[in-house]
Amino acid sequence: MPHALFPGSFDPFTNGHLDLATRGAALLGMVTVAFGRHATRDPMFSLEERLELAAEACRGIAGVEVTAFDGLLVDAAKELGASCVLRGVRSAGDFDYEAQMARTNADLSPGFETVFLAPSKDTAHLSATLVRQIASMGGDTSGFVPDCVQRALKERFPN
Ligand code: PNS
Repeated sequence: MPHALFPGSFDPFTNGHLDLATRGAALLGMVTVAFGRHATRDPMFSLEERLELAAEACRGIAGVEVTAFDGLLVDAAKELGASCVLRGVRSAGDFDYEAQMARTNADLSPGFETVFLAPSKDTAHLSATLVRQIASMGGDTSGFVPDCVQRALKERFPN
């Protein structure tokens, strides 16, 4: 069975990420949710917080693990024994960026494939950026993120 890395910054981990990891593991056998470093972004939650929240959200889901990596995705994949990358594509806009990353990763590591999954209908509109914005303005994010993430957002933005 293939082992896929599902990389991202997951700031925070949303129901969309959970949907993708769960369906990816059912399809591919094993998915490792892998926290990478975004060169130009300062995250809202620290890496430790994000890892802990994703691990809690994914607890008990067969074939899903959570880890973090430094440096290039293709190097992390080799180190972790992953044969492909899993990414979600919600829109044509997403696809342009995702295709560029997939082709670049394949150039860096020939034969390295990226598997794209469309989101489920209930999560197709979700984004971590919108969740951060809603939470920071006191809005209700309960339909968008796992319970543990919602609690963490409430603690971060009590009002
Ligand atoms: O949540 P994001 O911002 O879509 O995640 C982007 C991420 C972490 C997957 C991407 O920035 C990444 O792969 N970073 C590791 C560095 C790397 O390999 N860069 C070249 C990618 S073509």
